[in-house]
Amino acid sequence: MRTAVLVAPYAMPNTLRYVLALCELPGVRPALISADPPQRFPASIRERLAAFETVGNCFDGHALALATQRIAARTGGVDRLFGVLEQLQLPVAKARDLAGVPGMGAAVVHRFRDKSAMKQALRAAGVPCARYARVEKAQDALRFVDEVGLPIILKPVDGLGTRATFRVQTREELEVALASLRPSRRNPLQAEEFLVGSEHSFETVTIDGKPIWSSSTDYLPGPLEVMETPWIQYCVLLPRETAGMERFRAVNHAALNALGMQTGLSHMEWFLRRDGSVAVNEVGARPPGVNIMPLMSHAHGVDFVRLWMRLMVLDQFTPPVRKRAAGAAFFRGQGKGTRVVAVHGVRQAQEEVGRYVVEASMPKVGQSRAEGYEGEGFAVVAADTTDEVRHALARLIRNVRVELG
Ligand SMILES: Nc1ncnc2c1ncn2[C@@H]1O[C@H](COP(=O)(O)OP(=O)(O)OP(=O)(O)O)[C@@H](O)[C@H]1O
Ligand SMILES: [Mg+2]
Repeated sequence: MRTAVLVAPYAMPNTLRYVLALCELPGVRPALISADPPQRFPASIRERLAAFETVGNCFDGHALALATQRIAARTGGVDRLFGVLEQLQLPVAKARDLAGVPGMGAAVVHRFRDKSAMKQALRAAGVPCARYARVEKAQDALRFVDEVGLPIILKPVDGLGTRATFRVQTREELEVALASLRPSRRNPLQAEEFLVGSEHSFETVTIDGKPIWSSSTDYLPGPLEVMETPWIQYCVLLPRETAGMERFRAVNHAALNALGMQTGLSHMEWFLRRDGSVAVNEVGARPPGVNIMPLMSHAHGVDFVRLWMRLMVLDQFTPPVRKRAAGAAFFRGQGKGTRVVAVHGVRQAQEEVGRYVVEASMPKVGQSRAEGYEGEGFAVVAADTTDEVRHALARLIRNVRVELG
């Protein structure tokens, strides 16, 4: 029987879904490492656990390794150690290395977390992606601009959520950006040539280095455009048809191979240019965000959290068949305030397209302003056709207005 340890930093609702899926896996000894004490987890979960370790900081690989060793001493060994969040991937990989747990080690996972190491591996393998430079001092960026011209992108090498990501169009903007971002060895930036095209994701299930199933979504529009344009409400579409993703499949597989993906679900982002060519943007070796897990669940009539758990713990995955289209609309506050003061148009949206809504978390009056492109709330829709989902998303973001004040 395998002992599987999930790192669940806090007992938050989304994390609890993963914990529950672990506890419900047959023939597995489940264990948790958390920064929260066991009492924060429901009794129904606690009673199924073979071990529970509290650590001060779940993002510290050494602390995770020690906790893993304590669990191993009690259970006779640990076979799997993993976490969901992007920021956990490297500390968890370090802990695998230190505690001798099978799975991807830090050397591999580093390539999924450091955008320079990622692009270096991709370019060395001939995978199409932007030219890049690691910027540790202003001069590195100036040299890069001499080489590739403007515009460029400047972003953190281990960025998340399009934070601190800038489109630099002129020399003046470059100077301003460098003065505020202050790159250094300890705070390196990633400069990239600016790619133009639509943005998409590509989720792949890989077992022992072999990709066995994939799915793709469309970002409407790309995250940078959303962040640059305060009135845009972002959507993600998972079409019913799978034909559109075929143009990227070979590049996805080549990229995962170049990075050393072993077993897991990966979330890649890619560009489709107007001339039909494709390029990889980035990839995480973990479940996708922006509601793609529920979108994949609704489009295939399965629970992807459960499928992922089975994949991570037992190396098993039964490819589901696409039955429907699905989409997510993100509701994003408008205006200067720091709190939501009103949410308009919900009834109208409900009347027009409520029949398609399968999950929602509506923004609430009094809620704090959100800084990211996911805004203060969302609705997930599903339907038999891609057109219906497109229509439902359009009506949702047209009707629902979140007022900040
Ligand atoms: N080379 C590039 N050319 C054009 N746009 C880019 C480029 N690199 C990044 N972007 C834009 O910035 C966004 C964020 O960049 P990236 O995905 O690398 O960082 P992130 O912060 O990890 O993203 P996420 O929002 O997925 O967490 C991209 O989705 C895209 O819109
Ligand atoms: Mg990204």
